[in-house]
Amino acid sequence: MKILPGFFAMTIVFFIFIGCVETSPAKGADTAPGRALFIPPLLQPDSKNEAGTHYTINVQSGESEFIPGSMTKTIGYNGNFLGPTIRMAAGETVSFAVHNSLAEKTTLHWHGMRLPSEMDGGPLPMHVIDAGKTWLPHFTVKQQAATLWYHPHFAGTTAEQVYRGLAGIVIIEDEASAALSLPKKYGINDIPLIVQERRFLKDGTFSYSPAQPDIMHGYYGNALLTNGMIKPVFTVKESLTRFRLLNGSNSSVLRFYFEDQTEFYQIASDGGFLRKPVKRQELVLSPGERAEILVDILKEEVRGNNKNLIADVYSGNKYTALVIDTGEMKISRSSIPKTLVSLFPPKQSKNMNTRRFVLSTMSMGMGVSGTLTINNKKMDMNRVDEYIPVNTPEVWEIVNDTRGMGMMNIPHSFHIHDTQFLVLAVNGEPPPGQLAGYKDTILLWPGDAFRILVQFDEYLGKYMYHCHLLEHEDQGMMGIFEVIASGK
Ligand code: C2O
Ligand code: CU
Ligand code: CU
Repeated sequence: MKILPGFFAMTIVFFIFIGCVETSPAKGADTAPGRALFIPPLLQPDSKNEAGTHYTINVQSGESEFIPGSMTKTIGYNGNFLGPTIRMAAGETVSFAVHNSLAEKTTLHWHGMRLPSEMDGGPLPMHVIDAGKTWLPHFTVKQQAATLWYHPHFAGTTAEQVYRGLAGIVIIEDEASAALSLPKKYGINDIPLIVQERRFLKDGTFSYSPAQPDIMHGYYGNALLTNGMIKPVFTVKESLTRFRLLNGSNSSVLRFYFEDQTEFYQIASDGGFLRKPVKRQELVLSPGERAEILVDILKEEVRGNNKNLIADVYSGNKYTALVIDTGEMKISRSSIPKTLVSLFPPKQSKNMNTRRFVLSTMSMGMGVSGTLTINNKKMDMNRVDEYIPVNTPEVWEIVNDTRGMGMMNIPHSFHIHDTQFLVLAVNGEPPPGQLAGYKDTILLWPGDAFRILVQFDEYLGKYMYHCHLLEHEDQGMMGIFEVIASGK
């Protein structure tokens, strides 16, 4: 249980550096009436046949009213803010027409998906969708049931475009998820929660304008949006409810818990189900990470009526992410399974190749400006940092380095495209239960070192690894790897 002390230690460090930034709750944020939680609609296909399922996604601009009476300029997928949930089945071939109706370039990345390099929607020139243009990606889903997401990834404006509203959930289902007796009625007892911190201005709107300390320490805010709403109310329909949590914040690390300390079960991490449910009282997600949890609200009712889901940010802010109303609750017929799935990790061998990735934040005086690097390099679109043989397991060591002159204590969130990896060790110890499933993003507090087992199957080509604190990513805290035929 190293997470908790780390969390609060970071709070102190944060205040030393940025005590001057205005992060008290936004005016009006708490007086927003308790409106019903918005559930992103399921994206409906345009057509479906043997060749696959075809969808249209329009990247568009609009306006959203987060605080009553104030309209914020926002962007969204098929709407004003955020995007529809896309449900895919393992084995299904999906294709998309992604129209960019914005007046700027964007890309659309499938975070957590194993897929061909051209379809990945990263920051490379082949992925860019110019203003007014359409991109036509297609791929076959070749991974287990999971909660993934999609978001823009254009070099230099990823942080801003996500902040203004571009993000949506992908749900993959497979035979295992169909067979488990879990809550699976979308929007009824299976609820996606996209949680994002925002910094509202006095006029009740927000816009993206980070100062230098925000880039280094994170673009923290003063209000929390859950599915694009401040403090929404979820009326529980069935006592056993499944929440799919995504930390869609730019750089705020979030710690979730129920106000009355209700225990819940984590059933999935980024890449799908854990082997068995892990009982927890709190859950920390860095930007980009997901977790699925089950809460038996009836069973825990004796503990009190205050079931609100709280999220802390290590800046010190504390928000109600979701107000939970149990007034209409019925007893659920689902139960918490004893076991979930078997995992089949790649076979480890003695002579596996090891690579090391050192994330560092070097201060350039006064702790407000500095450089963010991986292995002392910033992203270069024309350089391949690592060549990796296909279908070959490797051990990667990821380190958040704080030793040495001028190193700063800042968390990082390390993400790899085109794979779901397994954590072998955290600071020399075996991973805790919630980190023992498939992951594509990990949180590294200052000084942390992870060993992970990574393999890239089938597809050759270029992909990214990077820090998922979006301000860091846009500053070039990213590298390119190329998956090559093995034996080269
Ligand atoms: Cu969610 Cu390369 O990102
Ligand atoms: Cu990704
Ligand atoms: Cu970072």
